[in-house]
Amino acid sequence: MTHPAPPANPERRRLLRLGASVAAAALHAPGLTGQRPLRVRFSHVVSEDTPKGLVAQRLQALVLQRTEGRIDVEVYPDARLYGDRDEMEALHTGAIDMLAPSLSKFGRVGFPEFEVFDLPFLFDHLDAVHRVTQGAYGHRLLAGLHRLGLVGLGYFDNGFKHMSADRPLHEVADFRGLRVRVQGSRVIAAQMRALGARPVPLPFSATREALAKGIVQGTENPLSNFWTQGMHEVQPHLSLTRHGYLGYAVITSERFWSRLRPADRALLQTALSEAIAYGNRIAGAQQEKALTALRAWGGTTIHEPTARQRAELARVVEPVHAELGQRIGPDRIRELHRAIGA
Ligand code: LMR
Repeated sequence: MTHPAPPANPERRRLLRLGASVAAAALHAPGLTGQRPLRVRFSHVVSEDTPKGLVAQRLQALVLQRTEGRIDVEVYPDARLYGDRDEMEALHTGAIDMLAPSLSKFGRVGFPEFEVFDLPFLFDHLDAVHRVTQGAYGHRLLAGLHRLGLVGLGYFDNGFKHMSADRPLHEVADFRGLRVRVQGSRVIAAQMRALGARPVPLPFSATREALAKGIVQGTENPLSNFWTQGMHEVQPHLSLTRHGYLGYAVITSERFWSRLRPADRALLQTALSEAIAYGNRIAGAQQEKALTALRAWGGTTIHEPTARQRAELARVVEPVHAELGQRIGPDRIRELHRAIGA
């Protein structure tokens, strides 16, 4: 496959030229080889103006600046290189070096324990999510990625998900028979079935078109994804259900990571931690920005569920929690609740 050039800007080009000459001059220095900047190809499926897009760009800028162009994080947004179906494989084969799949996408590749983040109505606030991701529970999940030769580098937020459809979704009965695009998470599929809807797993990049063609009639996503994908143009109704969380884990392959010099690994990890902290600071504002844009656009009717309607949705999907407990062990669910409550 031919790889398109990543988005470029003049500062990036200047640093890359500088990096090439720094690398060339350092050819004789111990520990440095090669003339071209070290490329770190980072592929993702969402738009640039989203929490994930902005984290990736911040990482790119920090690394370019700190290495004076010697290391270049090339960012490929919008599933331009790989999508949900092939990005993990591309990481394994070394066709790309870094990904940030949503936590909902780890279950289908052998890590069902990540699906705890999909449990509906579990987190009231992002602070509760962070108590899990930044504590022992979250660290253990990332460490477990070793089973597939992956290295987990950190978590970050998109935000809370809402439901959209070709019809108003107020009551549980409104979901009956609705074909809803879902990510490949068994918890999310079970949640839709509990509501009487029909879950249809589809790659993110195919979602808007599937909505436009009526292959599916509804979907769930945080507002930043909903707006930047133009889903509002094909979804006349949006219900601010805030029923679940969407976040990401940044991953690389052990193969790639172990080939880096320890100092470069440390530099990348530090830059990523800073990019993630930045992403978590702006994620809320990205949702607000999308909501403002949606209201100004006016083509999608935005519904605010009442407390009663939301409580009823939560009651109906509650059995999904116990179902996941049966798959990953009730102890894990108890530990999760302890982490949230800590
Ligand atoms: C989705 O597939 O709906 C999301 O995971 C997309 C993303 O990466 O935010």
